[in-house]
Amino acid sequence: MIHFNPKTRMLNLILRSSVYAMQIDNKDRLVHVVWGPHPVGVDGVLSGKIKPILSDHASFEFQTRRDELLTFGDTTTHEVTLKASFATLPDPLPDGDAPHLPIRDVRLRYVSHEIVTDAQPGLAPAHGLPTVNREPRETLRIQMADPVQPLTVTLCYRLTPAQDIIERWLELANMGDAPIEIEQLFFGALHLPNGTTELTSVSGAWAQEFQTQRERLPIGRRVIEHRSLQTGHAANPFFLLNRPGQAWEEHGTVYFGALAYSGSWQLSFEQFHSTDVRVHGGYHPADFGLTLVAGAQHKTPALVCGVCDEGWGGASRRLHAFTRERILPIAVAASQLRRAALQTVPLESHETGGAVRTPAAADYRPILYNSWEATYFGITEQNQIELAQKAAAIGVELFCLDDGWFGGRRFDVAGLGDWTVSPDVFPNGLEPLISEVNRLGMDFGLWVEPEMVNPDSDLYQAHPEWALHFPGRPRTEARCQLILDFGREEVVEHIFNALDSLLAQYNIAFIKWDMNRNVSEPGSVVGKAIWQAHVAGVYGIIDRLRAKYPHLTIESCSGGGGRIDLGILGRTDQVWTSDNTDALDRLRIQEGFSLAYPARVMEAWVTHEKNHQTGRSHELSTRFDVAMRGALGIGASLNGLDEAELKECASYIAFYKRIRHIVQGGDLYRLERLEESDASTILYVLPDGSEAVYSVVVHSHKMGQFRRMVPLRGLIPSATYEVLDRYQKVRLTATGYELMVQGIGGDEDGRSGHSRTLHIKRVE
Ligand code: DGJ
Repeated sequence: MIHFNPKTRMLNLILRSSVYAMQIDNKDRLVHVVWGPHPVGVDGVLSGKIKPILSDHASFEFQTRRDELLTFGDTTTHEVTLKASFATLPDPLPDGDAPHLPIRDVRLRYVSHEIVTDAQPGLAPAHGLPTVNREPRETLRIQMADPVQPLTVTLCYRLTPAQDIIERWLELANMGDAPIEIEQLFFGALHLPNGTTELTSVSGAWAQEFQTQRERLPIGRRVIEHRSLQTGHAANPFFLLNRPGQAWEEHGTVYFGALAYSGSWQLSFEQFHSTDVRVHGGYHPADFGLTLVAGAQHKTPALVCGVCDEGWGGASRRLHAFTRERILPIAVAASQLRRAALQTVPLESHETGGAVRTPAAADYRPILYNSWEATYFGITEQNQIELAQKAAAIGVELFCLDDGWFGGRRFDVAGLGDWTVSPDVFPNGLEPLISEVNRLGMDFGLWVEPEMVNPDSDLYQAHPEWALHFPGRPRTEARCQLILDFGREEVVEHIFNALDSLLAQYNIAFIKWDMNRNVSEPGSVVGKAIWQAHVAGVYGIIDRLRAKYPHLTIESCSGGGGRIDLGILGRTDQVWTSDNTDALDRLRIQEGFSLAYPARVMEAWVTHEKNHQTGRSHELSTRFDVAMRGALGIGASLNGLDEAELKECASYIAFYKRIRHIVQGGDLYRLERLEESDASTILYVLPDGSEAVYSVVVHSHKMGQFRRMVPLRGLIPSATYEVLDRYQKVRLTATGYELMVQGIGGDEDGRSGHSRTLHIKRVE
C-alpha cells in the first residue's frame, strides 16, 4: 500500500512486514525518513509528526540531510546518485555571475506524485512471456525538477509487498533545447540506520564464483563492482547488510539489495563518522557518459531492495520467491507444442488465466545432459547420438550440444561468428541428431556465443570493423576472440538473424548463451554509450527470439557464472553456475549463490569421478547429492560408465524427479553453513509445509570432531512426517515438532564426502 498524508506531506510505502517512508520538507526537498521492519498485521502508516533529525549542513560536514536522491552540486561532499552538467547559461545571467560553463549543479524539488500500477523499470523484458505471478503492483512515481535547469527526474518505487521488496529506478528527461550530459547515474540510493555495517557479499573468479565474504564496513567508502560488458565473476551485484552481531542466519534485521542489470555495475557503501550508512547501486561511474539530447529521456534499470526481520535466510527466501514469481519468464513446454504450429500460437493461448499460476510439472527445469566434458571439440554425429541414447536411457529430458558444431570451430581458435552448421562435423546438418534426440523423448539444446568473433572466421574477414576497438590501437584477444560492437544496429540485426535462422530451421528447445571473455578496448560507434548499448543489444536479441519462439528456454552462461543477475534472469530460465563441477568446491559456490538466487535456476551437473577442473575424485553419491541441490544436469561421459554405474545414475535421476518440485519451488533453509561448519546442511520446504528435502554433505571432516544434529525448520509442528531415502524406504517417522527441535540423526560420524539426500513427506 502507498499512503500520502497531505498535511504532513509524508509518503508511506507499506509492505507485508516492512515500511519505507519519505517526507517533502518546507523547501520541497524529498527527504528519507525511515526504512525497516514493522510488526506483521499492524497498520504501519507513520503520520509524519515525529520529525527526523535533519540538519542542512555545518561548515565541515555537508550533506548530512538524507535526501532521497543525492545530486552533485548543492553541498555535496559524499557519493551522489546523479551528476549532470548543463551547457547553457541562465538568461538573464544574474548580476555578478561569470559565464562559467558547464554548470555542474543539480538541485531537485518536488513537483508532484502519482500512484500507478505496473510501471516498468528500464530494460524490463520485452518478450511478452508471463511470469508465475501477474497480480498488478503499485508503483509510486515522484516527479522532481531542477528549479532553473530543464532537467526532471522521476523517482519510481514498485512494491511487491509479499516479499517486502521495492524496485527502485529513475527516469530522467531533458525538457530543454540543449543537450544535458549525465556524468554519473545510479539507479537509486538507500539510507540505512546508523550502525548497519556488517556487509555480506560474494567475490570470486572463473571456476571460483560466489565465495561468501562477510566484513565490517570501514568509515569511508567500500565498493563492490565489475567493469565489463557482463555481470562478471569477480563479484555479483547483490548485498546483505545488518548490524554486526545482531543478525544471523534466521534472526535479526537484514537489509538486502540486487541490481537487475548485466553490464558494468557498482554497489557503493558509504559509512560516515556518525555511522550513518548509505548505499548506491547502478551504472559503474568509470567511463560512464550519457548525453540526453533535447527532449530525450532515460530510464534506468532497477535496484531491487528489501528488509526483513528473519536473518540472512529470510532475505534469501524473499529474493528467491521474488525471482521465481516475478522475474523468471514462463516458456511454453516445447513438448506440448507441435513444431508446425509454433509460429502461429499467440502468447495468450499459453496462459492459464488468473493472476497467479499454479506450477505444472512442465514448469520445473528439465534434467539436462550436456556433452561438453564428454567430447569437448571432438564432436561427431555418431558420438553425440550415442551419448543421447545413453542419456535418454537414464532419464535425461534435455540434450544439449555444446561448443564446436559450427563454422571452422574445431578448437577454440576459430569459427566464432560463423553460425552455420559445419559439414565437417555434421555432414547431414543437425537434423539426424535432433530427430534422434526427439525420438528418444528428449528436447534438443544448442550452445552459442553470439557476442563474439574469432579473427579466424568468415565474419571477421568480411567485417573487421564490427569488433570493438579504438582506431589505430591494438585489439587484445582473449581465448583468441574479440567482442562484436553491439552499438552497431547492423551487428545486432546480423546476430539476431543468424540465431533466428537456426531456430527456424531446427527443432531447438533450448540455447545455452555463452560469453567467454571480459572486455578490453571498448571502442564503439556509440562511444561511451557502449556500456549500456551492449547490454541492451543482448537483452533485445533474447527478447525478440523468445517472443518469436515462445517454447524456447535459455541458459545464461559466461565462462560459468559470469552473467548471473536479476536482469538476465528476466529473460533466461537457468544459469550455468560455474565451470568448476568438483562437488566439494561446488558446495561453497552454491552456498554463496543461494544468498541471492533460487535453486530453480542453478544448473548443476554431475561430472566425472576424477574431476576435470580440480583432478580430485568424489563418489557418485557425493556428486549427485550436491547437484540435486539445484537444477540437476549430467555432464559426465556416459560412454565411460558401466551398466551398474548407469543404473545408479538412473536411480538418482528417478529420485530427483520425485523431489524436484520441492528443490525448485520450495523455501530454502541453510541449516548448517560451510562458513561456520565443516558440513553443509540445507532444507527445501514447500510453502505449505507438506514436503521437504533434507540434504547434508560433509566437506572436510576433522578427526575427533563429532557432528551435531541439526534441527529442521519450516515444518508444521503438529504434523507427522515420514523421512524417505532414495529407494523410497521410510527411515524415520516423526512429528514436525520433533524434527524441528532435534533434527534427523545418522550423520554423526560422517567423513569428508559423506552425503545424503532425504525426502520428507507429511503423512498426517
Ligand atoms: C564455457 C562454458 O562455461 C562451458 O560450459 C563450455 O560451454 C565452454 N565455454 C565451451 O566453449
